[in-house]
Amino acid sequence: MSEDPVPLKAIHHVELWVGNAKQAAFYYRQAFGFSQVAYAGLETGVRDRASYVLRQGRVRLVLSTPLGGDNGMSSHLARHGDGVRDIAFHVGDTDACFAATVERGAKVASEPQTLSDEHGSVRHAAIHTYGDTLHSFISYDDYDGPFLPGYRAAAIAGDSVGLRFVDHIVGNVELGKMDEWAGFYASVLGFSQQQHFSDEDISTEYSALMSKVMESDNGRIKFPLNEPAEGRRKSQIEEYLDFYDGPGVQHIALLTDDIIKAIEKLRANGVEFLHVPDDYYDTLQKRVGAIDEDMAEIRRLHILVDRDDEGYLLQLFTKPVEDRPTLFYEVIQRKGSRGFGYGNFKALFEAIELEQAARGNL
Ligand code: FE2
Repeated sequence: MSEDPVPLKAIHHVELWVGNAKQAAFYYRQAFGFSQVAYAGLETGVRDRASYVLRQGRVRLVLSTPLGGDNGMSSHLARHGDGVRDIAFHVGDTDACFAATVERGAKVASEPQTLSDEHGSVRHAAIHTYGDTLHSFISYDDYDGPFLPGYRAAAIAGDSVGLRFVDHIVGNVELGKMDEWAGFYASVLGFSQQQHFSDEDISTEYSALMSKVMESDNGRIKFPLNEPAEGRRKSQIEEYLDFYDGPGVQHIALLTDDIIKAIEKLRANGVEFLHVPDDYYDTLQKRVGAIDEDMAEIRRLHILVDRDDEGYLLQLFTKPVEDRPTLFYEVIQRKGSRGFGYGNFKALFEAIELEQAARGNL
C-alpha cells in the first residue's frame, strides 16, 4: 500500500454562512449548548464580515455573515440561505495536501497562504467540493491563539449538552451525481467507500434516496452522500436541492456519550426535533432487541434506535434550523454500530413526508 497522499487528521471546523451571525451564535449557545470562544469583525479590524467561533467538545462551528457590499457572501446567501460553506480539515502539511488534490483534479478555491497575527501563523488553502461548498486545509506552524489568525478571544461559556465531535457530515448532490462525487472523494482525497449499509435503496411508496458513505483513511471523517431516487412524489433530497438551489450539506451529525441526557437538555432548550410517531415504539423492541438504555426513557424522549450486526446506535434528527427546509442536525450515540441508521429512515419516511406535505412540497 502506498502512503495516503492527502493525510487528513480530523475536521478542524465547519463554517456556516448565515444571514445574522450574532443571532445565530446566540441560538447555538442557548439551544445547542455551545460555548463562544472567538470573534472576528469590525472591532478586530475585519471590515467585510463578522464571524463567531463556537465550541462544544471537539466540535467547532464558525458562523459568518457579510457586513455589506458583495464579497461573494451576499450572493451566496441570497441564493442558498443559511448553510455550510466550508468543511475545513486539520492537516499536517497544507501545501502537500493542496498540491496532491489539485494534481488529482480538485478545483482551486484558494491558493496556499500563511495567515498570521501576534499568536503565530497557520498555512491555509482551499478546494471546491459539491455545489458551492469548500474544503479548507489548515496546518499549524506555531499558532497558539484562540482559533485562527485574525480572531480574538471572546469567551461566553455555554451549558454543554455533551456533544463531543462531528460523527459524520452528509452531502446532498444532484440526481445521478452520487457516484461522481463518491469518485471525487475516492480519487482526489483518498477516501474509501464504507461497505456497511452503504448501497441500500431507502424508499417508500412516495419518495426515495440513494446513499453512499465515503470515509477518510484514518476513519475519523465520514461523508455520506445522498442523491434523490425516482419516486412517485418529490423526495426529501429534491426538496433540499430546490430550496438550497443546488447541492450542499444536508446534515451534521454530532456524537454524544449520553443521548438521553443530550436530548433531554436540547428539548428543554427548545430545539425542535423531527416528530417520531408513537407507533415507532410499538415494534422497536422486536426490531432492535435488548439495549442498555431504559426503553421508557427512549420512548419518552422519542429517540430512535437502529441495530446492525456490529451493535446498535441511538439517534435523533432536528428539524431544519432555518426557514428553508435545508440544513439540520443529528445527535448520535454509538454502541458498536458503525452505520448511519438507515433502518430508521425507512421507519421514519412517513413522518418525514408528513412534514414535507405540511410545507406543500410533496
Ligand atoms: Fe446521519
